[in-house]
Amino acid sequence: MKALILAGGTGSRLRPITYSMAKQLVPVANKPVIEYGIEAIAHAGVTDFGIIVGDTGPAVEKAVGDGSRWGIKITYIPQSAPLGLAHAVATAKPFLGDDDFVMYLGDNLIKSSVATLVKEFETHRPAATILLTPVPNPSDFGVAELENDRVVRLQEKPKDPKSNLALVGVYLFDKQIHDVIAVLKPSARGEYEITDAIQALVDNHLNVRSHIVEGWWKDTGTVDAMLEANRLILEDLEPSNDGAQDEHSRIEGRVRVGRGSIIENSVIRGPAVIGEGCLIKDSYIGPFTAIADHSRLVSTEIENSIVMNDCEIQDAPSRLASCLIGRGVTIRHQKGMPRTMQLVLGDSSSAALP
Ligand code: DAU
Repeated sequence: MKALILAGGTGSRLRPITYSMAKQLVPVANKPVIEYGIEAIAHAGVTDFGIIVGDTGPAVEKAVGDGSRWGIKITYIPQSAPLGLAHAVATAKPFLGDDDFVMYLGDNLIKSSVATLVKEFETHRPAATILLTPVPNPSDFGVAELENDRVVRLQEKPKDPKSNLALVGVYLFDKQIHDVIAVLKPSARGEYEITDAIQALVDNHLNVRSHIVEGWWKDTGTVDAMLEANRLILEDLEPSNDGAQDEHSRIEGRVRVGRGSIIENSVIRGPAVIGEGCLIKDSYIGPFTAIADHSRLVSTEIENSIVMNDCEIQDAPSRLASCLIGRGVTIRHQKGMPRTMQLVLGDSSSAALP
């Protein structure tokens, strides 16, 4: 069994963050999203990984590395353009050969065990295993119709969904998927859809097994979903403190503080994570907040947010909530009269002002 992680694509729904970084590298609880998937698959005993990359390939390769830290080997596979998930599989064919593989969308987070799925696949040997979960907005996903647990129809982002069962971004395939992809036509939105390829397996009377996901699953493609993923991961945080705090500070609940971070006259209410080399001074860090390495927060209140590395936030005039703040951002209060707000925002930024 090999692994194929998809880390190409454009990330348009996460702009402006994705103008300068791959969406699969956005940190959730201070760790790039893609690493959660890699770890889950490595934990299942898979050691030969291919990662599909697009324009952001060099950054993905720099962040993720050669896999040795997880005891796996990673091959980076450039995709000429983001022409769809089935196109990514076709691109990876020389790497995959005739082997079975688990495919994982690099912007997905899933709590279920991949090990159980791999074991089950190897026992029953279907042509494909898909994961499904009920969602309130099936039109945003691939949707499956079941009859007595049998997959009868799959549709990609249907306007008029026939069920509420969304395809989750983890799939297992044997080599037969390559035969149907070889004759696949692009969809109305111009992409080679893996959903259509799986439908072709069903049409060819091949065995497509489905599983309803237990535990949570998140496609982190939007800011809200990213913040929710951050909350879900922080729920399970192991607390630890490798930083230093003064006697005027209070750390409550499950909080992790990284090496070299200094907490002065502040309250941190978990679950929350503070990276390495941060300064938190005269501040309140509320639940479900992740602050990455070397950021400095002074006289600031913040909760339910992701702050990436090397940010500087000082004297924020009101509490920051539900924010996704990119790398090296500066936010400070402009004192004095007249009371003005000076904003330097990149393309597609959003700011909600009090
Ligand atoms: O998240 C689950 C959904 O993922 C499924 O329900 C859908 O059936 C499936 O088509 C997919 O839909 P999305 O619209 O969310 O896919 P997205 O374009 O976000 O791509 C998913 C991942 O694959 C993402 O990490 C980018 C990567 N990708 C995408 C394309 C189109 C590639 O590596 N190459 C590509 O050509």
